[in-house]
Amino acid sequence: MRSLLFVPADSEKKIAKAMSVGADCLILDLEDSVAPARKAAARPMAAAFLRAARDRPNRPKLYVRINALDTAEWPADLDAVMPARPDGIMHPKPRGAEDVDRLAIALDHAEAKHGIPTAATRIIAIATEVPMAVLTLPTYLEASSRLEGLTWGAEDLSALMGSSATREAGGGWTSPYRLARDLCLFTAMAAGRQPIDTVYVDFRNTEGLAEECRLAARDGFTGKMAIHPDQVATINAAFTPTSAEITWAHEIIALFRDNPGAGALSLRGQMIDRPHAVRADRILIRAKLAGL
Ligand code: COA
Ligand code: MG
Repeated sequence: MRSLLFVPADSEKKIAKAMSVGADCLILDLEDSVAPARKAAARPMAAAFLRAARDRPNRPKLYVRINALDTAEWPADLDAVMPARPDGIMHPKPRGAEDVDRLAIALDHAEAKHGIPTAATRIIAIATEVPMAVLTLPTYLEASSRLEGLTWGAEDLSALMGSSATREAGGGWTSPYRLARDLCLFTAMAAGRQPIDTVYVDFRNTEGLAEECRLAARDGFTGKMAIHPDQVATINAAFTPTSAEITWAHEIIALFRDNPGAGALSLRGQMIDRPHAVRADRILIRAKLAGL
């Protein structure tokens, strides 16, 4: 999933638009983009959307962001949306994998109740929204097999940290938030889950978004969350391998196929060995996922 677009679930207008914007995943939001007084109205709207969207051909993945596990809201969120069979749940503000495992148990029960195959419902955790969570990231190495991906958040984290800014004047992350980002990336890769970059809130700034996507893709993230439909095309483009990358990958795979006994090889004056083959495989997997 390259682009994951948040859609506030209490907004008729945004829900109506969501399916047509080309996102690989929609995240129906019941959490921070929905005011407390609107949560009860948002739940059936999210469920109705899921029911209508589920059977559409070539549809995006459909996730729901529920409220955090330390609120009174999340059980009602799950009760409302699980009968409509979302592909996954986005888990905000977990303190570590223990919270994700608690959510997984609640999903076990909901799936049994609604005749959904066990563990069909995936989880993406926003793994750095509270200070404690940055310190417990290694717990995700043992997390529930439902865990599809890890992403990170700077907004809630910075509020709790008391930071007055998360970005330098030039736009780059300040040190604490770069640490959270980078540890999220390492943890996701070590745990074998998708690393997903956080939202870019300056949503009219297309150039700034493109640059942030470029840096994320360069470092190994394979997708990014979006808050506005106009961000989706930029994100999809940035996380789709280029034709030059795909050509290179085919060349590397062919080189190793034609030289089965070889360790190190040479290509246009560059040394090529095992890590290049691993990189080439990854590029071709991402190209296939992007429909190329
Ligand atoms: N999903 C689907 N549609 C959206 C959308 C979203 N996240 N954000 C905007 N749209 C729609 C608008 O309804 C509007 O539709 P229209 O063409 O039918 O009029 C169109 O896209 C253009 O929207 P625009 O007027 O540019 O933005 P806005 O001022 O209405 O909204 C935000 C700006 C930031 C409030 C809005 O994009 C939003 O709610 N984003 C999601 C916020 C969120 O989920 N935050 C939590 C995660 S951090
Ligand atoms: Mg939040």
